[in-house]
Amino acid sequence: MSRAVYPGSFDPFTLGHLDILQRAAGIFDKVIVAVLENPNKTPLFSVEERIAMIRESVDEDGNIEVDSFSGLTVEYARKVGAGSLVRGMRATSDFESEFQMALFNRRLAPEITTVFLMTSFANVFLSSSLIKEVARHGGNVDFAVPPSVAKRLARFNENRGL
Ligand code: PNS
Repeated sequence: MSRAVYPGSFDPFTLGHLDILQRAAGIFDKVIVAVLENPNKTPLFSVEERIAMIRESVDEDGNIEVDSFSGLTVEYARKVGAGSLVRGMRATSDFESEFQMALFNRRLAPEITTVFLMTSFANVFLSSSLIKEVARHGGNVDFAVPPSVAKRLARFNENRGL
């Protein structure tokens, strides 16, 4: 059975992530979306919220599972028995850091292969950090995120009195 981990910060999960995830789910028998718990970063959404938003956006009864992890991605992949890591690739600006990460991960765990899926043209300009920035200033980002995320971003702004 082919099993892949789709790791990321997902702060928040975007339509770009959803697109990559759905295409990965068409390739692998099982895809585990793994939300990184990173103590060095201050995320907009807690890990629990990020997991809830992803769960509300996908059908977990199918071959997609949502989980969180801390530490090394390859160690998490080994723990869940995944032979592949899935990463989305946008324009060339993603290439350098992704290339570095993929080679480093291969060095750490040669049995695990990183698989890159190209983003859809419609999502090429989406990024979680830009979405957060626009949402923070009260801009509408509903076109860029699943409804579960749009709802929470709106609530977040209401609480701040925007
Ligand atoms: O969504 P992001 O922030 O681009 O995802 C980056 C992520 C989570 C894949 C990367 O930072 C990661 O794998 N972090 C876990 C720690 C780790 O394994 N680092 C070594 C990578 S070479």
